[in-house]
Amino acid sequence: MELTGAKVLVAGATGVLGGALARALADAGARVALAGRDGGRLEALAAELGGAPASAVDAVDVDAVRAAVDAAAGALGGLDAVVVAWGVVAFGPAADADDAVTEELFAVNALAPMSLVRAALPHLADGGAVVLLSAVVADAPTLGMAEYSASKAALSAWASVLRRELRGRSVAVLDVRPPHVDTGLVDRALAGTPPRLPAGHDRGEVVAAVLDGMRQGAREVVVDPRERRLVVR
Ligand SMILES: NC(=O)c1ccc[n+]([C@@H]2O[C@H](COP(=O)([O-])OP(=O)(O)OC[C@H]3O[C@@H](n4cnc5c(N)ncnc54)[C@H](OP(=O)(O)O)[C@@H]3O)[C@@H](O)[C@H]2O)c1
Repeated sequence: MELTGAKVLVAGATGVLGGALARALADAGARVALAGRDGGRLEALAAELGGAPASAVDAVDVDAVRAAVDAAAGALGGLDAVVVAWGVVAFGPAADADDAVTEELFAVNALAPMSLVRAALPHLADGGAVVLLSAVVADAPTLGMAEYSASKAALSAWASVLRRELRGRSVAVLDVRPPHVDTGLVDRALAGTPPRLPAGHDRGEVVAAVLDGMRQGAREVVVDPRERRLVVR
């Protein structure tokens, strides 16, 4: 898809990757609408982007998510793409996982993106794109991260079916599965302490790969484990 002039909703724009994606899309000439939980950070980013339309929303509030999508489509005059970049993490052995934490992981990482995309599809132009931030752990479930891995694998499985079902509309579904990136996400874990993680991947490379993937109508951004570089395909 052409990013110049594209109407794009970025959900989770208050996060590090979401904010960087919103800025990069705006720099590429897209018209960006924002959704995020932290009202202060959301307002600041909206102002930085020249008064971008913005909705404060908790991802687990399905009605609020739908309202935020409708508001973004109304303000921009439709949507060409949605980018879902919200997410939470938790650490610890599977046998000790707290049920409420597990529920929140699945609600925010898997169920809320599905709700948002369902709400967006009637607004989405043919030839547009759905972009979902999953994670490398969807392919390589990691010790001490069973529930986070499972929630991201659930989202990736859903994305692979959605992609096939949307083929007739030429809507691309880009499943982004980055490795660890130093954004502070692990320090904001819902529970537990992180295991030893590899050095964080370059944030700018992740953002650039997502924009490349959108332009190409690609299906995934994944890491090449040997070369530790991102592949868009
Ligand atoms: N960092 C990594 O190593 C890495 C690797 C692979 C994949 N990812 C994925 O990339 C995405 C972005 O992560 P990040 O590293 O940029 O972390 P981040 O800066 O902590 O961003 C997380 C975002 O999720 C939002 N969020 C969490 N719970 C929410 C809820 N209930 N309702 C609405 N928003 C909620 C946060 O909103 P507020 O700040 O407004 O509360 C924030 O915008 C996540 O899906 C993450 O799983 C990250």
